Amino acid sequence: MTIMERGATAANPQVARLQVGDKELVLPIEPATEGQAAINIAPLLKDAGLVTLDYGYANTAPTRSAITYLDGDAGILRYRGYPIEQLAEDSTYLEVAYLLLNGDLPDAAAYEVWQREITLHTFIHENVRKRFLEGFHYDAHPMGMLVSAVAALSTFYLDAKDIFDTESRKKQIIRLIAKMPTLAAAAHRFSVGMPFVYPDNSLPFTSNFLSMMWKIAEPRFEADPVLARALDVLFILHADHEQNCSTTAMRVVGSSHADPYSATAAAAAALYGPRHGGANEAVIRMLTEIGSIENVEPFIASVKEGSGGRLQGFGHRVYKSYDPRAKIIKQTADEVFGVTGKNPLLDIALKLEEIALSDEYFTSRKLYPNVDFYSGLIYQAMGFPLEMFPVLFAIPRTTGWLAHWQEMLDQDSKITRPRQLYIGEAERTYRPIGER
Ligand code: ACO
Repeated sequence: MTIMERGATAANPQVARLQVGDKELVLPIEPATEGQAAINIAPLLKDAGLVTLDYGYANTAPTRSAITYLDGDAGILRYRGYPIEQLAEDSTYLEVAYLLLNGDLPDAAAYEVWQREITLHTFIHENVRKRFLEGFHYDAHPMGMLVSAVAALSTFYLDAKDIFDTESRKKQIIRLIAKMPTLAAAAHRFSVGMPFVYPDNSLPFTSNFLSMMWKIAEPRFEADPVLARALDVLFILHADHEQNCSTTAMRVVGSSHADPYSATAAAAAALYGPRHGGANEAVIRMLTEIGSIENVEPFIASVKEGSGGRLQGFGHRVYKSYDPRAKIIKQTADEVFGVTGKNPLLDIALKLEEIALSDEYFTSRKLYPNVDFYSGLIYQAMGFPLEMFPVLFAIPRTTGWLAHWQEMLDQDSKITRPRQLYIGEAERTYRPIGER
């Protein structure tokens, strides 16, 4: 029923014609700078009384966005136009955070101010730690603690509700980016019974985080520079990924004009699930269960016949080729293993990848390693417990969530409120309980 006039470009805007019964709807096609143009279906309900059915929003662009571009078929990922490979090679996480939030790379003076602002906000209110974090059960999962602690921050910063005040908004963004590693490390320390370590603001961002994680009695914790840099690269790679599940959660909650701490907690909760930020933890559990190279083939066979579950760390809603982040991570893994020694699960992972990439089941479905396939191996080699993996994802993704939250508010967007295709009972009459 659709006669699409294809080929819309910025220079050549066109329309889609949709025939509904004897009525023809002319729907504008909105051009993209790169990637797919979009049919604007806004008139559909009003003009034809129809809604669109799109499970998992797989074909829906709920917004215009100028932050991140990715081409899943070509394996391209760019932040504000800059290829992820260049950023991972030459930039730092904090510079990338500035880029995502402000649209451009900072000059030297702006970068210095930005770094100082983040550094000055790394401390958390003592009551967040004493009254809140320490109130959890001894075996609380650190991601559950992080989600709750971030939500709790909104009760400490009442000015966060002024979401249209530019200064207040900026302050909450800085607070969130700066406090995330402190909360993350605090959650870990509590879960292993170690005392809280205060931030050391003489250290760069990732070294400071590693200090809060691992410091014991030494006056100053000196992170291995290779490991600190590797973590910074991982933070760059995880900083944003356009309209993924957790970012969508951020935008949905933010669209009701909730404060950014509440919206970030919702985004972090979305990230907690094994289909999203929990996948690298699932990869390690899967590799551990496989146990040895000889078991790889039978395991792949069980995945194919449906009894072995999914191959964790493989497949992606958007990437239908090798995830460009996975390529960079593979290289980073070699550098990390040079310091920590090789993760014994690496050989199983490499064998799994080799077999899957030459197997018709995976190639025909375009299932390739995603960012999570190798990141867990690095985190594990660096000493992070499995429970910390989604937390390590949440720290940098906070930047992406906030960039999208800010963009959404600047667009003066509508509250997110989709429609549905109702398939329940038609109207029926209530009968008192004795008559049923
Ligand atoms: N292992 C085996 N088969 C798979 C896998 C996998 N990892 N992923 C998809 N498939 C198969 C499905 O069974 C389906 O096969 P069928 O057509 O015969 O029914 C086909 O590929 C398409 O799968 P969908 O579920 O429709 O793909 P979708 O785009 O909805 O899912 C997802 C994407 C959730 C990432 C999926 O690939 C998956 O579960 N992967 C494993 C978990 C994972 O690694 N998640 C991390 C994603 S990256 C991130 O969030 C940072």
